[in-house]
Amino acid sequence: MKLTAAEMAEFDERGYLFFPSRFSPEEAAVLRAAADEVYALDREEVWRESSGVARTAFAAHTYNDAFRRLGRHPRLIEPVMQLVDGPVYMHQYKVNAKAAFDGEVWQWHQDFGTWHRDDRMPEPRAMNIAVFLDEVTAANGPLLFIPGSHRQGVFEAGHDLETTSYPLWTLDRATVTRLAERGGLVAPTGPPGSIIVFASTLVHASPPNISPFGRSIVYLSLCHVDNHIRRFQRKAWIAHRDFAPIEPLADDCLAELAGARTGAGTGTAA
Ligand code: SIN
Ligand code: MN
Repeated sequence: MKLTAAEMAEFDERGYLFFPSRFSPEEAAVLRAAADEVYALDREEVWRESSGVARTAFAAHTYNDAFRRLGRHPRLIEPVMQLVDGPVYMHQYKVNAKAAFDGEVWQWHQDFGTWHRDDRMPEPRAMNIAVFLDEVTAANGPLLFIPGSHRQGVFEAGHDLETTSYPLWTLDRATVTRLAERGGLVAPTGPPGSIIVFASTLVHASPPNISPFGRSIVYLSLCHVDNHIRRFQRKAWIAHRDFAPIEPLADDCLAELAGARTGAGTGTAA
């Protein structure tokens, strides 16, 4: 999947690109089933909300085959290589459940703020690419973005160790208000298999999910290999230390698991 010049320009301007239905329903179903398997594991990488339901399964690509394949999927790796202009390694890998009724908030933040402060990642030559495993709607805790907020560097932030089980460097209300008054707010919604790529300095958040519908999203956080982290203070399964360039697999690597027919062009819905 090669980004066009217009898409590259849109990314520069807004800080994200949304591609509905980039994985087929069958591919998304393989990943959805894998998510339930990893949420059920009793492992230190699987963090829980205060209610006990899964919040985030970290590093799921290291203990689940479907997520291992997704972590090397060309539809994800190639556009990010294009955007950061070179080979990438996996800095972080999360499967976020945002469970029905119990999925808690993600406060306003920039991912690079955490990667820089905690892990000493030198530059924001890194980004997230997210894959929806459920339909994401206005009701089940969608990601909220402030378009254009990635263009102003790293904002002051406070270390929130209390609101949720996951520590995060979060922005104050005055900053969020100022940015949102200028850039507005968007909440990309769409079917399972949709993809969003977003800049590591883009300001984002997500509200709690009080709906009866879960909202699983997988995030690959990919970083240019030259820009690898310099400090190893966090667990290696949160901030990875394998800086080897990712070699993408074949485009049908997930469709294979779905038992779908293989061959050029199959398994891609759009
Ligand atoms: C994140 O910001 O890293 C995750 C937000 C979410 O999954 O809602
Ligand atoms: Mn984030």
